[in-house]
Amino acid sequence: MNLERIQNTDLLDKVITANEAALFFENGMVVGSSGFTRAGDSKAVLKALADRGKEAQLKITLITGASLGHDIDGILADTDMLAKRMPFQSDAILRKHINAGEVMFIDQHLGEIAELINNHHLPEIDIAVVEVAMIKADGSVVPTTSIGNSATFIQKAKKIILEVNLTIPTNIEGIHDIFYTGDYPHRAIIPITQANSLIGTTSIPVDVSKVIGIVYTNVADSPASIAEPDTKTIAIANFLLDFLRNEVKHGRLTTSLLPLQAGIGKVANAILEGFVNSEFNNLTMYSEVLQDSTFDLIDAGNLTFASASSITVSEKCYQRIFQNFDNYKNKILLRPQNISNAAEVIRRLGIIAINTAIECDIYGNVNSTHVYGTKMMNGIGGSGDFARNSYLCIFVTQAASKGDNISHIVPMVSHVDHSEHDVDIIVTDYGLADLRGLAPRERAVRIIQNCSHPDYRPYLLDYFQRACLQGGHTPHLLNEALSWQARLIETGSMKIKTED
Ligand code: COA
Repeated sequence: MNLERIQNTDLLDKVITANEAALFFENGMVVGSSGFTRAGDSKAVLKALADRGKEAQLKITLITGASLGHDIDGILADTDMLAKRMPFQSDAILRKHINAGEVMFIDQHLGEIAELINNHHLPEIDIAVVEVAMIKADGSVVPTTSIGNSATFIQKAKKIILEVNLTIPTNIEGIHDIFYTGDYPHRAIIPITQANSLIGTTSIPVDVSKVIGIVYTNVADSPASIAEPDTKTIAIANFLLDFLRNEVKHGRLTTSLLPLQAGIGKVANAILEGFVNSEFNNLTMYSEVLQDSTFDLIDAGNLTFASASSITVSEKCYQRIFQNFDNYKNKILLRPQNISNAAEVIRRLGIIAINTAIECDIYGNVNSTHVYGTKMMNGIGGSGDFARNSYLCIFVTQAASKGDNISHIVPMVSHVDHSEHDVDIIVTDYGLADLRGLAPRERAVRIIQNCSHPDYRPYLLDYFQRACLQGGHTPHLLNEALSWQARLIETGSMKIKTED
């Protein structure tokens, strides 16, 4: 028995094996599990559930914070155990099952899951599986590297399984800030006025009578794979930094900017690296994921505080953080994802939101989720929570990729996640389009001229000019608008073959 990890002695007899815990799951159950972009997920119980295999003839609805690590999503999908999955994933195997129509995936704003559960817009959670660092004497639990939806799952689930992760140092206690908004019509204001506002408790209260099992695990989080900045991401970062310098010059921002949010993906991480050694200082982050770049910025002295819902870093960075945890402890906070991504707080703090697009169109609509408008990549994640409510809504993408056969600036996006009404700035490795104060026809010219790849620019201009001849507030040629994506599917390239 580990009395440091399980301080509530009434719960000591609840310790069971992962295989025993897996037997609690029944066909048709709704399971709420911890885990947010690979951090703080269930490593033992969900794996043991997947090990029950196809013969278990058991399908569940699995709701998490965001994506899971250790290939768990893929294994559960391959063993036919997922009827429904929400709100986000990034697993190649699960993606295949989703796109084959075998797993019903609900791609949902991350900030809204707790709301949907609280408001009974989703079925009741049968079992919550939550990774924790320790169980306190009062039964409350200290989460690990993420909070995600764990506080809501624990509060609302009929039964709870706790997974105590022995690899997480117990001095992690103190970095979590748990806050419940309460229910409509008496919902509380979320009193966060700056990134480091502490508004709640450091552990999640638990009704111990609901705990049906406690499982130990010794497995660490799956590390994030971080791509080194390359010429394209460095170019994007430089355009963005120059834009921010200009905002400072014109008095709209100071060199401390406003709290930053950076989405997942290689571009966003590389852009944050661009702030290291820059003149921007006393920066803060109010984001949902703390990536390697966050800790590089803290070490470089540019970033004073970072708030999010998870720590998702490479193996090297993970060691650096946990071997020197006391150096970082007073500079980071983790919050439930309905607080990290709360519209109210994002709008109040004036977040500068930087997210990645799969494609942008000439009017500034952004697709972040669907390749060819039909195939799910990962999901909208928190990009919509931040994009819609931010002070500056920035989307980044390469102008072209895959041997320049894909133009990421297209006449019309094949799926809309972020509409032209929200998007302020688009940046590619060819330039930046500031869309603030521009009407659709003005936006089109700016996006095409500043952001598109030169190989595609004349064709985009030609499309726009011919569309304008037909008139309209937002001119389009409807039977041509999606022809670029159609050509990519048919020929492997968006390039237009000219007959010379
Ligand atoms: N047409 C066809 N394929 C495209 C494409 C397009 N317009 N854009 C991207 N792809 C393909 C890429 O070629 C790549 O395929 P590959 O794996 O076969 O090489 C794949 O989609 C992923 O693209 P990549 O450029 O490697 O992605 P990334 O790591 O930069 O991530 C997003 C980009 C948009 C997928 C990612 O940022 C995301 O999931 N965003 C939504 C969630 C989010 O923003 N969360 C933010 C809050 S944390």
